[in-house]
Formats: sequence, C-alpha cells, structure tokens
Amino acid sequence: MNKLRHMMNPLDFSVEELEELFDLAGEIEKDMDSYAHKCDGKILATCFYEPSTRTRLSFETAMLRLGGKTLGFADASNSSAAKGESVADTIRVISCFADICAMRHPKEGAPMVAATKSSIPVINAGDGGHQHPTQTLTDLLTIRSLYGKLGDFTIGLCGDLKFGRTVHSLINALSRYEGIRFIFISPKELRVPDYITEMLTQKNIPYEEVIKLEDVMPQLDFLYMTRVQKERFFNEEDYIRLKDFYILNKEKMAKAKVNMYILHPLPRVNEISVEIDDDPRAAYFKQVQYGLYVRMALILTLLNIK
Ligand code: NCD
Repeated sequence: MNKLRHMMNPLDFSVEELEELFDLAGEIEKDMDSYAHKCDGKILATCFYEPSTRTRLSFETAMLRLGGKTLGFADASNSSAAKGESVADTIRVISCFADICAMRHPKEGAPMVAATKSSIPVINAGDGGHQHPTQTLTDLLTIRSLYGKLGDFTIGLCGDLKFGRTVHSLINALSRYEGIRFIFISPKELRVPDYITEMLTQKNIPYEEVIKLEDVMPQLDFLYMTRVQKERFFNEEDYIRLKDFYILNKEKMAKAKVNMYILHPLPRVNEISVEIDDDPRAAYFKQVQYGLYVRMALILTLLNIK
C-alpha cells in the first residue's frame, strides 16, 4: 500500500519532489486534454471554514479538469462546525465520502489536526496567518516558468508581511534555493515576523527591510505585492491607516527593471492600480493559471495516479 501523504507546508516535499511536481504541471500545461480522465470516479472535498474564491474554485476546477467530482462547503456556518463539531470529527466523516480533501481554516494548525485523523490526503488550503502551501506552489511554478529557474534573483515582498500567510509560506519555500536575496517592504507595524528573519539569519540568506518601495524598485527581479489583511487586524483604525500605504502605479513602475515581474496572490484591493494590468511585467493573472496546473499536479501526486 502507498503511504498516505498530505500537503501541510511546502517543505513537506523535498526540492526534488517539487521539481517532479512542477514538471508534471508543465506537462499538464502543454496538453491538458490528455489528463481529462485521470481522476474519473474520484471525489475531492473542499472544506472551507474561511472565505475564498480563487483557491476553492481553483481546486474544484483542477478536479473537474481531471475528470473527478467535487463536494464540500464554502461557509462554516452551513456546516456541522456551527453545531460544534471538531475538525477531527469532520475529517473522519469526510474520509468516508471523498478521496482527497482541501481544507481552509482561520485557526493556525487546524488542517494539520485534521490530517492526523484522516484516512485520505489532506491539503492545507490556508490556515490563519500561518501557511498557504498551494499558493506557494503556484508562486514557485510561476517564477520557474517565467524566469527559467528557481534561484539567483532578488525578490521584494511588499505590503502586509505580518499577517500575510502567502508571504510566510513563500519565504520559507524559497529559503531552500541558492542565490536568492529578499527585500521586505512594509510599514513598521506590518513587518515580517521575527521567526522568519531569524530563520534567514541562521541560514545566512541575505535580506533587507525597508519602508519605501521606490528606493529598492530598481534592484528587483520580482515584486510580490500583497493586500493588507483586514480580517486579521485587531482594530479597524489601524487597518484604515495602513490599507493604502502602498499603491503600485505607473510612476513607481518607471523605476523598475524592464524585465521585472509583478506577482500577487490576489485578491487585489488598492495596492496595484488597474493601470498596471496591461504592463507586460504584470504576471498576477498568469499566476492564477499556473495555480490550476499545479493543483492538478498535486491532486494526481497525492492520489498516486500516474
Ligand atoms: C490569499 C490568502 O487567502 O491568503 N489568497 C489566495 O488564496 N490567493 C491572499 C489574500 O487573501 O490576501
């Protein structure tokens, strides 16, 4: 029997395993039709205890494009969680219905608890401010596809580096590749957590923290923009004060390299002006497409379907 595997953190897969996953995603990109029946008869459950559009629909599309079916809930108030059921019990029940489960939860670690009780693969689709591994796989595949390799670049991460789980997950994952320099661009209140900078220092990975985006723009090969995470703020006043701290516009883009790429996990609020959308350096909608390929590849890998 094959060993049951989950995806809780991008580091759950070795660099070599990720390469295989990205190669498979590349094959899917080239010829999606030849994967249309790989998951015939399989069911994906999406258990979303927190709002999502892109991630949930991306998972559902991935399974449908593989020929499988989906079920689940997009709102915890419509599930037994509202009656007080634990995620541990929910996953035991879901294990009887589905072959694989994608779970998003506002509490850090909840999908991990589910995984320990599950008899089907569980994918963490975002847990609180902690990790968002499939967004990270999306980001890595996008970088690899656009830049040709995962390494030897300077990446600026800008916006809410304190609460943004996609940022935490991505830094973690990139820390295994060579020649990467991080520039963290945020207001003081939204700095990247200390545990992350400590990890980088320990691994001798260069990073810099700045407040002004314009000052570092010319150095960047990638600019990863993020929205200020309203739902994780303790008070509304702070959110209002910080929400429009960065707005990427044409004037700022004039300072960027001609071959820099702008990434964003989406949803965008005001942090990227729509006037940038037609700039050839804007890669955030392409990123959504890569997210579909990589989720298809992940479902196949975790279900051990060749
Ligand atoms: C991100 C998330 O949920 O953390 N969205 C996504 O999954 N693409 C980013 C965000 O909500 O800002």
